Amino acid sequence: MTNIPVITIDGPSGAGKGTVSQRVAKHLGWHTLDSGAMYRVLALAAYQHDIALKNETALANLATDLKVHFEPLSSGTQVILEGQDVSREIRTESCGAAASQIATLPAIRQALLVRQRAFRQTPGLVADGRDMGTVVFPDASHKVFLTASCEERANRRYKQLKEKGIDAKLADIVIEITQRDKRDRTRTIAPLTAAQDAQVIDTTGISIEKVVASILDKKS
Ligand code: DC
Repeated sequence: MTNIPVITIDGPSGAGKGTVSQRVAKHLGWHTLDSGAMYRVLALAAYQHDIALKNETALANLATDLKVHFEPLSSGTQVILEGQDVSREIRTESCGAAASQIATLPAIRQALLVRQRAFRQTPGLVADGRDMGTVVFPDASHKVFLTASCEERANRRYKQLKEKGIDAKLADIVIEITQRDKRDRTRTIAPLTAAQDAQVIDTTGISIEKVVASILDKKS
């Protein structure tokens, strides 16, 4: 354990974790960890290396050795996989679904947990995902759990994808989000759930600025 401070921001997909984390980190001058991007990039690498999504041992080895680099940018995080910029590619719904599938496998979670903890560096870290407060950083200085209605989350995801020029249908996103939530919440290892000591914020109809202000307010 270390005394480098961590703020964890967990929640289901589309709850606003990414944007909120970036803004909180920017305000504090801290590092960020987008743990979902790790699962996504591993799913993409599995596809590129022709490894089946059920092959737990091969995927865990890949997770340990994978040459992946996360470069913080003002607009988010740039993800470089084996020398290639895959920032856009990992955001597709199919990559999200594959990430959620491999995230059910214990050996993979263990391999990524080691890599996730390495992001804890001075002056501090804002880590977002599903199990940041419950499993990866249980001693975090402040834990947040973001929620929002399924409809709102699907709408946000749709807008985000459109802005990135990624083709998507709203009805498909609603189905995908519902399925992914169910898998993330019901898996036996590190399921999506709020830590007992988390600040729970329902972001439905609330501006990002208000959510960020509420976190910074409670954190101090
Ligand atoms: O946050 P995201 O949509 O990019 O995450 C993609 C998938 O990765 C998500 O459906 C489940 C998995 N994931 C996880 O199991 N644990 C995390 N800490 C982050 C993501």
